[in-house]
Amino acid sequence: MNRRQLISLGALGAGSILLSQCARNNAQGSAVQSSDPAAPIAPLQITRSKGLVEVAMDARPSYVNMAGQERLLYSYSGQIPGPRIEASPGDTVRIRFTNVLAETTNLHFHGLHIPPTGTGDDVFRKIASGETFTYEFQIPTDHPGGVVYYHPHAHGTVAQQILGGLGGMIVVRGVVDERPEIQAAQEECVFLKDFSTAENWQATNAWETGLMAGREGGLLTVNGEVNPIWEMPASGLLRLRFVNASNARFYRLALEEHPLYLIGTDSHPLEAPVQLSELLLVPGERADVLVQAQPGVTQEQSFKLMNLPYRRGGMGMMGHHGGSRGSGSENQVLARLNYGTASNTNVTALPRQLIPIAALAQPSQTRSFSLNHGMVPGQGMVFLVNGKSFDPDRIDTRVKLGTVEEWEIRNTGVMDHPFHLHVNPFQVVSRNGQPETFRAWKDTVLVKTGEILRLRVKFTDFPGKTVYHCHILDHEERGMMGIIQMDA
Ligand code: C2O
Ligand code: CU
Ligand code: CU
Repeated sequence: MNRRQLISLGALGAGSILLSQCARNNAQGSAVQSSDPAAPIAPLQITRSKGLVEVAMDARPSYVNMAGQERLLYSYSGQIPGPRIEASPGDTVRIRFTNVLAETTNLHFHGLHIPPTGTGDDVFRKIASGETFTYEFQIPTDHPGGVVYYHPHAHGTVAQQILGGLGGMIVVRGVVDERPEIQAAQEECVFLKDFSTAENWQATNAWETGLMAGREGGLLTVNGEVNPIWEMPASGLLRLRFVNASNARFYRLALEEHPLYLIGTDSHPLEAPVQLSELLLVPGERADVLVQAQPGVTQEQSFKLMNLPYRRGGMGMMGHHGGSRGSGSENQVLARLNYGTASNTNVTALPRQLIPIAALAQPSQTRSFSLNHGMVPGQGMVFLVNGKSFDPDRIDTRVKLGTVEEWEIRNTGVMDHPFHLHVNPFQVVSRNGQPETFRAWKDTVLVKTGEILRLRVKFTDFPGKTVYHCHILDHEERGMMGIIQMDA
């Protein structure tokens, strides 16, 4: 052991018991901490009083012992996942953010409805190495309660920095969190992130899948740990708040012998719980889920949270190199749920109603977006929206604040693409002409190969320029992103 104190990610993390990850995972530190090659470093601070949440944090290179090997990753203030920030609607959030990385970075607040300009969610802002910038914004008083995923968004370095470990959560506590059934549930944040098993993770070929498919790593972590164990709480209700913080990996989640009750999608509550036997979570997506203790379970029993196989297409289908991509053909174990003192007779009932979701008005404008890939001279294979590769100097879509639009998203390529829009959430209306079975607010949605999806979005409150893109970050970096200008 050298002078750096190493805490294992992978090897030592296995089997550790994480009680109330969400509740304890704050300024005190998260599952994995690391030592830092760059100095000096300002200490992490999170304070909250009278409507002001103040954070001082940085992005830095960090040594982490992963699967028995010390390697250099990226972290927010030494933590993977980054420090968890708690806020409420109406709060002002002020983040004094220092870039200790050797390259440009910035912060994006995926799921927050705040201005895309100034000190808000401006993804065009670049924070150079060594620079400090203070983000400051107010969370609207009518903002829903939900999990926001913060991560870097400086074009050209996004995929690399997320593959290296950057990402974290802001938990907004809203009206839904005051429901007695929700309060009775024990909460766990479930930050899903895969890492390369190779020490030289920066090399493109150190990953299970290549750049074109979108890189996936062989080491699956939950809150920076391998195979954590949760305990069913005495109330018999567990709340799992999933974030897919991976570069490209899709998670097809299932918990042995337990249905999943979906109560929220992305950063928004649903109208009522929806029972699912499995849940597909694509990069950038979040899901709020309740798990209820099952009758007849003995206290020694343990259930696996599984990632089931999923094939998300690939260049192999076109006869190119690379093959078909997905998480293999085997189930993978992500975590375990043990029954300890859980009551099997007095299980808390599920909430019946959550938060109403109004349907959006008839659109005043419709648009069509096609997702595909193609060859561009001098650039090789790129990913395209409406036949165009991303250009930071081009406005692709102009909309008017206060209007509702219907967007048709067509995936005409050979790979699945998760489509994401910043700032304003949308509702999916139909897939391949079939209406959606329940109403939900979304900001990231899977558009499968060959699929035609229709969504409705109302542009509200904030003028300015932002983006929509594929949330497989290797695709975003290779062109699958457009700029939208929202005019007052
Ligand atoms: Cu989560 Cu534009 O990204
Ligand atoms: Cu986003
Ligand atoms: Cu894509």
